[in-house]
Amino acid sequence: MAGQFPANFLWGASTSAYQVEGATRTDGRGETTWDRFVRTPGRVTDGGTGDVACDSYHRYEEDIALLTQMGCKAYIFSTAWARVYPEGYGRLNGDGLDYYERFVDALLAAGIAPVLTLYHWDLPQALQARGGWLNRDTISAFTQYADTVSRRLGDRVGRWVTINEPETEVSHGYLTGEHAPGIRNRKTALQVGHHLLVAHGEAVPVLRGNGPGDMQIGVVLDLVPAYPASDRAEDERAAVRQDGVTNRWYLDPIFKGQYPDDLLELYAADAPETQTTDMTKIARPLDFLGINYYTRNVVRDDPAPPLHVAPEPPDGVERGGNGAEIYPEGSYDTLTRVHRDYAPPAIYVTENGVVDNTEPDGTGMAHDRVRLDYLRGHVPQLLRAIGAGVPLRGYFHWSLMDNFEWNFGYTMRFGLAHVDHSSGDRSLKESGHWYTRLIADNEARDV
Ligand code: FCB
Repeated sequence: MAGQFPANFLWGASTSAYQVEGATRTDGRGETTWDRFVRTPGRVTDGGTGDVACDSYHRYEEDIALLTQMGCKAYIFSTAWARVYPEGYGRLNGDGLDYYERFVDALLAAGIAPVLTLYHWDLPQALQARGGWLNRDTISAFTQYADTVSRRLGDRVGRWVTINEPETEVSHGYLTGEHAPGIRNRKTALQVGHHLLVAHGEAVPVLRGNGPGDMQIGVVLDLVPAYPASDRAEDERAAVRQDGVTNRWYLDPIFKGQYPDDLLELYAADAPETQTTDMTKIARPLDFLGINYYTRNVVRDDPAPPLHVAPEPPDGVERGGNGAEIYPEGSYDTLTRVHRDYAPPAIYVTENGVVDNTEPDGTGMAHDRVRLDYLRGHVPQLLRAIGAGVPLRGYFHWSLMDNFEWNFGYTMRFGLAHVDHSSGDRSLKESGHWYTRLIADNEARDV
């Protein structure tokens, strides 16, 4: 599909604190669950850590220069809770807050709208020591942190994200254990997920109280559309269950104030304990939903409990460097489905991207063809969704630059800009140059 994007369409890129900042012991920052997790042997593929990462804490002017070079209108970044409250609550670290103020002011000076995520998985370790997200006290610690950051920056940051991808924290942090804190227990996982949602809901009025009337508040969900591997009724039902686990379990409470019945039945005694006002809080009205879209799930029915679902990845399809299927139509399906079933007032694609580890050639440019094709495939789907009436207001590519990819360390590059991890130098890849032209033209072409 070819055509023009709306004039005020918000093109941007995203990153998160632990993945880019480095400087983990600088200016009073406290320890986080990730600082600890990466030091446990075997947790990170290449043994990498976020200690230095892209050193954005010191080199953020270079990050802003990349955004400027591409003509990005906005930038999604996250604040590290442990820079603001080194122990998670109580003692405020003024230096941490000052850093984010300098950073936000530098973005604004460059004409780039900050989109601030309060939580992108880097929980202060001191809170983890008291049970982390399993302990309901972590919710009030989060609201205190949200209050502090928004009091300082509410006058300047127009868009706020409470929590990034609660589903990933649940599935990777507490089910498979691939992410911090590396726990494997379904009951714990679902309780943690519930507390993350309540924390989100509790933060909404706090943020609103600290900003102007037009402050935009949202949450970010990773949505993975589920398709049946065949037209057998069992497989179709399996796809409904998979969709429930990944998508409806988060969308329903946020937009309808209840967990889906079919999943409650499936989870049975593992379903979370809730307090009376929790669901009302979780469903507080939002200004936007952020959707992270990467790939799809293709599944079949499977005898193995508990979910009776097994992945059946299709053959002969295009894949990114981490093996994930490249399926652009899934973004259209997801956007239109969310609009139809949940009708958030506005939607942003807050992350979308692919692993392509191509290194720069002799001329210094990385010709990242997989990422280029990925962009060429996905961008027209955005236009299609807008044409179908989806209130899609912007798109953010993951990521601005190569960074610390969690349990994969530095082995998976997602950047529009290449980062030489020994020197820290950044340079736009071919995809970054393509993105520059896209933003300038504000138009998708059939190329
Ligand atoms: C998303 C995460 C982000 C990054 C990308 C590749 O799930 O939010 O931090 O890891 O995947």
